[in-house]
Amino acid sequence: MRDFIHSTLPDILASVGDGKAKLNVIGVGSGAGEIDLEMFSQLRQKYPSITVDTHVVEPSSQQIHNYKVLVSKRKDLDYIKFTWNKVTASEFEQQWKENKMSKKADFIHMIQMLYYVKDPDATISFFQSLLHKTGKLLIILVSGTSGWAKLWGTYGSQLGISDITQCVTTAHIKSLLDSKAVGYHSYELPSQMDISECFVEGSEEGELLLDFLTEVQNFRQTAPAELKAVVLELLRHPDCSVETEGRVIFNNNLEALVLDPLP
Ligand SMILES: C[S@@+](CC[C@H](N)C(=O)[O-])C[C@H]1O[C@@H](n2cnc3c(N)ncnc32)[C@H](O)[C@@H]1O
Repeated sequence: MRDFIHSTLPDILASVGDGKAKLNVIGVGSGAGEIDLEMFSQLRQKYPSITVDTHVVEPSSQQIHNYKVLVSKRKDLDYIKFTWNKVTASEFEQQWKENKMSKKADFIHMIQMLYYVKDPDATISFFQSLLHKTGKLLIILVSGTSGWAKLWGTYGSQLGISDITQCVTTAHIKSLLDSKAVGYHSYELPSQMDISECFVEGSEEGELLLDFLTEVQNFRQTAPAELKAVVLELLRHPDCSVETEGRVIFNNNLEALVLDPLP
């Protein structure tokens, strides 16, 4: 993701900032802000005299706190004005509409967050409608070619993928956008994760990794034996991973989709 932010994002943002003194940015599900700040620093490098007005839309007070702490440790961010919104994307939409806001955004990003909304389609449409005519909406999620897509597609319903998370990948989002003839550019972000420890009986790191992959706490102890066996088999299957030099390397590829404003 960082490679993408450093090498490709500056070109994507080229049209966004041209000729502007101030940029309006909305971060949806910004978490603790590390990625946001990386993007701001790219923006600032490209446009050294630009100022930024940013809305952070983040329902977790812990994450907002972490983000504020991160900002407070940096001395080089006076060009950014932060507005903290401790709300979900749909609550933000409701407030925006109630307050009849007409402000337009130059750059909106939703990075690794559409898994957590009930209706990704509606969320994308609303935020896309907020874009200024030269604005861009950046979505990053796991790619449809990743091991996650295979794992969720095969066993998602039997695993702990709960009400709060959805097995949504960029493949779903692309087919949704295609069905509505909404144009976008896409960029594959190669990413790998060494999951070898999952196959080492008794490895604490392996247990935690397995819980992370399956979204089930204590998966190895609690899952039915048959499910455990097939999930472990799939995780090291070539559909999900490559085995190299004795290590099992999971395909964690992400994909970035960049949307223009609604016509
Ligand atoms: C996996 S984190 C990604 C954080 C950050 N964008 C990054 O890439 O590092 C997902 C974030 O989305 C937030 N989130 C969860 N549900 C949300 C919702 N309905 N609307 C907005 N944000 C949400 C979570 O609190 C969390 O901070």
